[in-house]
Amino acid sequence: MAESMKGLHRTCRCAEVTKDMIGQEIVLMGWVQKARDKGGIVFVDLRDRSGIMQLIFENGTIDEEGFAKAGKLRSEFVIAVTGTVEKRGGAVNPNLATGELELVVRSLRVLAESEVPPFPIEENSKTKDEIRLKYRYMDLRRPDLQRNLMLRSRVAMLTRAFFAKEGFLEIETPMLGKTTPEGARDYLVPSRVHPGHFYGLPQSPQLYKQLLMCSGYDRYIQIAKCFRDEDLRADRQPEFTQIDMELSFVDVDDVIDVNERFLAYLFKEVLDVDVKLPIQRITWQEAMDRFGSDKPDMRFGMELHDVSDIVKDCGFSVFTGALENGGSVRGINAEGQGSMPRKKIDKLVEFAKGYGAKGLAYIAIAEDGTRKSSFAKFMTDEEMDALVKAMDGKDGDLLLFAADKKKLVYDVLGALRLELAKQMDLLDKNEFCFVWVTEFPLLEWNEEENRYTAMHHPFTMLMEEDLELLDTDPGKVRAKAYDIVLNGNEIGGGSVRIHQNDIQERMFQELGFTKEDAYEQFGFLLDAFKYGVPPHAGLAYGLDRLVMLMAKVDSIRDVIAFPKVKDASCLMTKAPSAASEAQLKELALAVNVEEETEE
Ligand code: AMO
Ligand code: AMP
Repeated sequence: MAESMKGLHRTCRCAEVTKDMIGQEIVLMGWVQKARDKGGIVFVDLRDRSGIMQLIFENGTIDEEGFAKAGKLRSEFVIAVTGTVEKRGGAVNPNLATGELELVVRSLRVLAESEVPPFPIEENSKTKDEIRLKYRYMDLRRPDLQRNLMLRSRVAMLTRAFFAKEGFLEIETPMLGKTTPEGARDYLVPSRVHPGHFYGLPQSPQLYKQLLMCSGYDRYIQIAKCFRDEDLRADRQPEFTQIDMELSFVDVDDVIDVNERFLAYLFKEVLDVDVKLPIQRITWQEAMDRFGSDKPDMRFGMELHDVSDIVKDCGFSVFTGALENGGSVRGINAEGQGSMPRKKIDKLVEFAKGYGAKGLAYIAIAEDGTRKSSFAKFMTDEEMDALVKAMDGKDGDLLLFAADKKKLVYDVLGALRLELAKQMDLLDKNEFCFVWVTEFPLLEWNEEENRYTAMHHPFTMLMEEDLELLDTDPGKVRAKAYDIVLNGNEIGGGSVRIHQNDIQERMFQELGFTKEDAYEQFGFLLDAFKYGVPPHAGLAYGLDRLVMLMAKVDSIRDVIAFPKVKDASCLMTKAPSAASEAQLKELALAVNVEEETEE
């Protein structure tokens, strides 16, 4: 039977009990982690979000009724105990903060009983994800998830403190509004009052924050919810959180400066990690050439080598054919992997094919210098020697080559580089390697739509020196855009914005918007720019990704209280769900799907 806690006040949390408190009477409340009845004595591990404290119930130190109740305690019962802190009589537990202490209980109240939990509440759960997510409220009791969410809370708190001190104002922007394009599909919300009309949930606060600059707020920050209907991955959720900011009267370096100081402050405060400033910067082109990725993991080398010139006249038609088609031949050197068994190399070839490669050519150099290669028979010894030399190939190395269109070669080798680093155990979660990637291309050619789309978003300013290229070679125009990358993850991105109406209109034209389209979608912004717009720039971090890396976990699901699964549903609430006839009618909506079959 559940008792009340009338008249009782918790004095501290379990793991806040210290040796200085020996002899004191305290009140603790929490969940029974485990209870062991050893005859005349009952041991209970009491858990709350701080940790565990051992309780002792002994016939005599607690009255008979209390002792009887203690004998009936089961996992996840919620209890309140009053007792005296003492040095542990039995074995000390070095794994617990309170491992040398115990609480000798004088009175016990059972505040709530619990059914047998669906899985044990313990660190590093082996329980299947689906079960954990269905009972997320139980999963969230586990110490690892509790630590992650406490860390997230601290990151949010320190973020607000830092930016407040730097003169930023926290301003909320609407969820129900006009959507902001960031390249994903929108989530729409039907309007009851305006049948057939929809609000768009923001993909980011981009348009609103630019308007706030027009309104003179100067430095804005918000920890903002964003919604994007896109395919989910380990680092993507349909609903996620940004640390979003915008600044007036600034250029690239100003944004980078305040954000470098922010990152250094955050990592020092939270993890006691020193971020060396300034953070290195590389251009997008350099990132692609060296790492095959615009979010390079620079904790390790294994850089790409362009060997196009070396092989352009060789006898291997896969290489020369790719070059004749305007492509490129590049390779990576997996140092020390020369003795990789053939089967494992074949797996790498399959991996490369997963990224669209037609094949993956290799040279495996044994420790004694002998070579095995999938294409040696097409090459002269001199050609092979020159290739190995260009790759810095030494005895014991494995050289892997992709020949194709440049973009595909980057993708394949960029992914392969990461895969090999995983296999070779080169990725240390305790190392934090930041890099700014700058000078992104402004536009990206969209094969399907046969037109350019904005690589970042349509409000991004181009580099002044590339203005003329907009007419002659739009694909070559570089943007004043920057991403902040940590260990191969894009944790944030931003840009200087266009604040000249003529350039903005020119940009819309390049993206295939008619003037009418542009006004239909963004008229309010274009109008606002007519009344005195300051030059402005900004950036947004993915808070979930940042916390994921700080918590050293592999999925953003582990740092979000109630995440969604791959098909964007919530296993606990079963959202999304069908609307009632009445709701649909009220919203003037008709649903055009086959009757759902209940699972
Ligand atoms: P961008 O689209 O690059 O820029 O988003 C900024 C950061 O948000 C994170 N992010 C995500 N995190 C989890 N799930 C997702 N689906 C998801 N999508 C993005 C990434 C990314 O770096 N308005 C601009 C910013 C600006 O220009 O100021 C914007 O939204 O970490
Ligand atoms: P083949 O002559 O097709 O048997 O190919 C010889 C070797 O070249 C095999 O190891 C293939 O995996 C590899 N290969 C084929 N196409 C490519 C390509 N586009 N880039 C790199 N290697 C390739």
